[in-house]
Amino acid sequence: MKPLAGYSRTQIVLHWAAFALVAQQYLFKDAISAAWERTSEGAEVAFDPIVFAHVAGGALVLVLALWRLLLRARRGVPSQTGSTSQQVLARVTHLGLYALMFLMPISGSFAWFGGVEVAALGHNVMKVILLVLVALHIAGALYHQFILRDGILTRMRRPQD
Ligand code: HEM
Ligand code: HEM
Repeated sequence: MKPLAGYSRTQIVLHWAAFALVAQQYLFKDAISAAWERTSEGAEVAFDPIVFAHVAGGALVLVLALWRLLLRARRGVPSQTGSTSQQVLARVTHLGLYALMFLMPISGSFAWFGGVEVAALGHNVMKVILLVLVALHIAGALYHQFILRDGILTRMRRPQD
């Protein structure tokens, strides 16, 4: 992976699109939770566009994560800034975020399409871990932007193709 001056337009669009999709998974979660409860009780569940958006939106997160990893490998990413410990923390957080962009849709699919209770449990545990990682990630981005003043947020806004 070669270090670059910034992210490409596609990398930036993919980052914010994934953020928007993950946000809607949390904002409109009640419909899928209620539908899951009804199916677990053996009741029939009618088609609900909000439930569909959770399933399709979640699957899209996985596709976008794959696309991003492909671009990472092919094009590369800008080098990390900050002290060694900050770079390690950022790497671990990014790794966790990528892992959950795969594990959330996979566990959700096992629960929804396969009726696997333990997958739903995992989905529920991981939803909290994802929230914690996103909070850490946002705190890190703000720390870089406003304390270290290394323009990291600008890096995720202005493409360097
Ligand atoms: C669901 C929410 C989010 C996820 C899953 C996510 C995930 C990621 C990942 C995996 C990276 C590393 C990109 C790479 O090098 O391949 C990244 C970079 C970045 N993210 Fe996010 N992000 C989220 C939300 C946010 C938010 C809300 C902000 C702003 C406050 C933000 C700001 C940034 C910045 C500035 C970078 C670039 C870091 C750098 O250049 O070293 N992210 N994000
Ligand atoms: C990044 C992707 C995803 C995120 C962030 C996400 C997030 C969430 C959240 C926050 C809940 C609410 C749990 C609660 O508090 O009641 C939930 C529930 C659920 N999701 Fe997802 N989800 C994702 C992908 C998927 C996919 C692709 C599917 C199915 C194909 C799915 C199936 C479910 C099911 C069945 C529930 C109900 C589980 C329960 O209430 O115990 N999810 N999801």
